Amino acid sequence: MRTQVGIVGAGPAGLMLSHLLHLHGIESVVLECRSREYVEHRVRAGVLEQGSVDLLRRTGIGERLQREGMRHEGIELRFDGESHRVPMTELTGRAITVYGQQEVVKDLIAARLAAGGSVLFEAEAVRLAGLDSQSPVIHFRRDGRDEQLHCDFVAGCDGFHGVSRGAVPDGVLRTYERTYPFAWLGVLAAAPPAVDELVYANHERGFALYSLRSPEISRLYLQVPPDEDIAAWPDERIWAELRTRLETVAGWSLNEGPVLEKSITPMRSFVVEPMQWERLFLAGDAVHIVPPTGAKGMNLALADVALLGDAFAAWYGQHRTDLLDGYSAAALRRVWRAQHFSWWMTSMLHRLEKDDPYEAKLRAATLRYVVTSPAYATSLAENYVGLPEV
Ligand code: APR
Ligand code: PHB
Repeated sequence: MRTQVGIVGAGPAGLMLSHLLHLHGIESVVLECRSREYVEHRVRAGVLEQGSVDLLRRTGIGERLQREGMRHEGIELRFDGESHRVPMTELTGRAITVYGQQEVVKDLIAARLAAGGSVLFEAEAVRLAGLDSQSPVIHFRRDGRDEQLHCDFVAGCDGFHGVSRGAVPDGVLRTYERTYPFAWLGVLAAAPPAVDELVYANHERGFALYSLRSPEISRLYLQVPPDEDIAAWPDERIWAELRTRLETVAGWSLNEGPVLEKSITPMRSFVVEPMQWERLFLAGDAVHIVPPTGAKGMNLALADVALLGDAFAAWYGQHRTDLLDGYSAAALRRVWRAQHFSWWMTSMLHRLEKDDPYEAKLRAATLRYVVTSPAYATSLAENYVGLPEV
């Protein structure tokens, strides 16, 4: 099999890249180790920055997003028995849209298949070869058989646990990372959200987040210890803990309902540099992870491939190498802005297992500053809705 750009991974990064390349008249094949059913139903985050919404709309993927996405112009910070709204749109002129990542994935898969694109499911890339030659090869397994995809370039969009990053020789990449001494327990519940906007709560028992997916479905998160067993969290315990951490303002209560899905996600900050080696270009979770507190993961993945799409277009269309050569440096500017913002939001809102009283006071001072200083609130808001230029 041969194509121009071989793409490993059908998450938001790989699928969007394939779509962008198609719009530029460049062929690609996407290899995805999971089934279509699996990737379309994997529950993940759901906040799109203004720039991500604009990208989806501009490239013809925004029709259902326009109908079903929920535009939010603010978020709420809850702490110390008080609730404060950060009016993001008033402060920045921009907004976020709540729309599940798996919905973006469904829309992109539908668009690629409708355009005759090749997305091969249950096709697992096992080895990348010839990356430092003019014709790299992706060795993959499908239906129990070994196959090869020959291409001009490889785009490694295969997430944190993928194979692409590991194909770079030792000593080339540098890793920057931080782990946090807590995880998030995420719950999807058939309960009408009791909020119009997302609520980020700092509580002495730990962080909680109230988000939503639709007028009928709530999405909630609780800070839990890093090695927590999901079996320790029967539904009644989850609701009791959510009530304790979120029902801190008089007269407000959350809505409960059947739990549809629950899982525990570790929190990690991680960046690998550079995001390219020879003919391998890495994007999304394959090269950077943020803790979910800033809601940046999917947005960074889309921003990476927006750059990469233009860079391949310049190479194929005008024989220009400058954008491909500059891809890593350009992408990393946004990546590091999001790294800082995600770390900052995380530090401000979570408690540590062995909490240092000084740190707790600093968190309280930071929260108080955000809700009293328009300058500081604007800093939060412009990062949250996404900076157009970084
Ligand atoms: N061969 C083929 N596919 C692979 C392989 C492999 N060896 N390894 C991993 N994959 C697939 C995974 O099954 C997954 O569908 O690569 C895809 C990577 O997609 P994502 O993990 O969604 O990563 P990305 O597209 O970068 O999107 C980042 O996803 O994890 C969230 O919070 C994160 O929102 C962010 C977004
Ligand atoms: C979500 O709705 O899943 C969500 C929202 C905001 C976050 C993280 C996750 O910061």
